[in-house]
Amino acid sequence: MKRFTTVAAALATVTLFAATAFASGEDVFKAKCMACHPNGGNIMKKEKTLSGKDLAANKLNTTKALVKYMRNPGPGMTKFDAKALPEKDAKAVAEYILKAFK
Ligand code: HEC
Repeated sequence: MKRFTTVAAALATVTLFAATAFASGEDVFKAKCMACHPNGGNIMKKEKTLSGKDLAANKLNTTKALVKYMRNPGPGMTKFDAKALPEKDAKAVAEYILKAFK
């Protein structure tokens, strides 16, 4: 039992560390997207916001579709290739968008 407790405590520490060691979707959003999409809006193209409604209308309401869009965005938006935005960060920011802007 003592041994189990030690292992469990060690695992919990590793998990906590992992959660804080990487940028969250929110951090990525603030750093790379917020300038043009404050509060999930769109300062350049008003009708293309990150709201669930607009995303659904443009079939961008899944993590996969959002990541694909960042790799090959519409006119006016910065293109984020795998170098500018690693897969893990792209997925994290997509998940953040789907949750944060209803
Ligand atoms: C330089 C400004 C700029 C930045 C930075 C930017 N975008 Fe955009 N974004 C745009 C513009 C402009 C459009 C509309 C493109 C069009 O007309 O199709 C857009 C559209 C989108 C759309 C489609 C919305 C819809 O309703 O169809 C998504 C999703 C999106 N951006 C996500 C992101 C994410 C995620 C980031 C950060 C990783 C980001 N954008 C960074 C300017 C920007």
